[in-house]
Amino acid sequence: MTRYETLLQTLPAAPKTWLITGVAGFIGSNLLETLLNLDQFVVGLDSFATGHQRNLDEVRTTVSAARWARFSFIKGDIRNLEDCHRACRGVDYVLHQAALGSVPRSLNDPITTNATNIDGFLNMLVASRDATVKSFTYAASSSTYGDHPGLPKVEDTIGKPLSPYAVTKYVNELYAEVFARCYGFETIGLRYFNVFGKRQDPEGAYAAVIPKWTASMVNNEDVFINGDGETSRDFCFIENTVQANLLAATVVDPAARNQVYNVAVSGRTDLNLLFSTLRKALLNSGIIYEKEPVYREFRAGDVRHSQADIGKIQTLLGYEPKFDIKQGIEIAMPWYANFLK
Ligand SMILES: NC(=O)c1ccc[n+]([C@@H]2O[C@H](COP(=O)([O-])OP(=O)(O)OC[C@H]3O[C@@H](n4cnc5c(N)ncnc54)[C@H](O)[C@@H]3O)[C@@H](O)[C@H]2O)c1
Repeated sequence: MTRYETLLQTLPAAPKTWLITGVAGFIGSNLLETLLNLDQFVVGLDSFATGHQRNLDEVRTTVSAARWARFSFIKGDIRNLEDCHRACRGVDYVLHQAALGSVPRSLNDPITTNATNIDGFLNMLVASRDATVKSFTYAASSSTYGDHPGLPKVEDTIGKPLSPYAVTKYVNELYAEVFARCYGFETIGLRYFNVFGKRQDPEGAYAAVIPKWTASMVNNEDVFINGDGETSRDFCFIENTVQANLLAATVVDPAARNQVYNVAVSGRTDLNLLFSTLRKALLNSGIIYEKEPVYREFRAGDVRHSQADIGKIQTLLGYEPKFDIKQGIEIAMPWYANFLK
């Protein structure tokens, strides 16, 4: 049995209290759904900066009333230390997801990205330390690899950041390390590589590529590829990301704590292949998209290739990704087809 399978069996018998910041967002709401289905108590904090009430409403429809009653929501802002202190009260495990994502957003508005992703992160560290939580797991990012050309990406070899967003995520890692050194407060950082799945927002200027293209295909609009289509990513289905969070939060091995891990599947899919995979998967939901992609300029701040080495998280946390990109897209597409119709 994998460590995750064991965890799924043992958690319901000994429920804990989890804080999910960014609970109304894509990753946060998927964490919420899994934890409630495991009979856990969950506190959620969100300002609705980019998240939506509809994500919480949807989780509510998928879990029983008894389980939903174990969830308490705080509308608050991680830039406000008081809100962070309030949210951390009585919490065992913190899963810190709240941040402003998107490289282009950070290029357009570095100040708000900095305030949320660095000041907000520091507030959450302080509040979690003060509340003596059992563990603090946070969303780091593959953008920290910056301009380093090596593939696959190994945790301790990074380059220079290519965007304000990447700076903020790297600063998170520096603060996390310093909190361990100065206060003995240990954390785990999860460097996500292009997560995708249900409830990832298809709307707005800063939508991620999979929901954005899916929305364009469903609406029979042009799909734009930035560059030649050979830019590649290690796309990671949300269920793998959820697994990584639960494993990180509950790990007791001291060697596995106070670390940063890649979270991905170690695959590499270029944008041309992604386009055809999405088109094919939508066909199964009865959506026919016949247009060809429109190629345009490369986008500033983008890393050319990204692929994770996942040896460290496999060895130290017992992570075993269950879904590759194709399986993930097949699961996610019916949700998008329904959401966008
Ligand atoms: N999705 C990915 O591929 C990916 C990749 C790398 C890292 N990440 C990181 O994972 C985390 C979650 O990302 P996501 O894809 O679910 O994004 P998301 O935008 O769907 O979720 C982020 C949530 O944080 C909330 N939030 C933002 N600012 C806040 C504030 N000041 N106070 C309280 N809440 C606030 C938003 O309202 C939203 O609900 C982020 O930290 C992001 O940087 C995501």
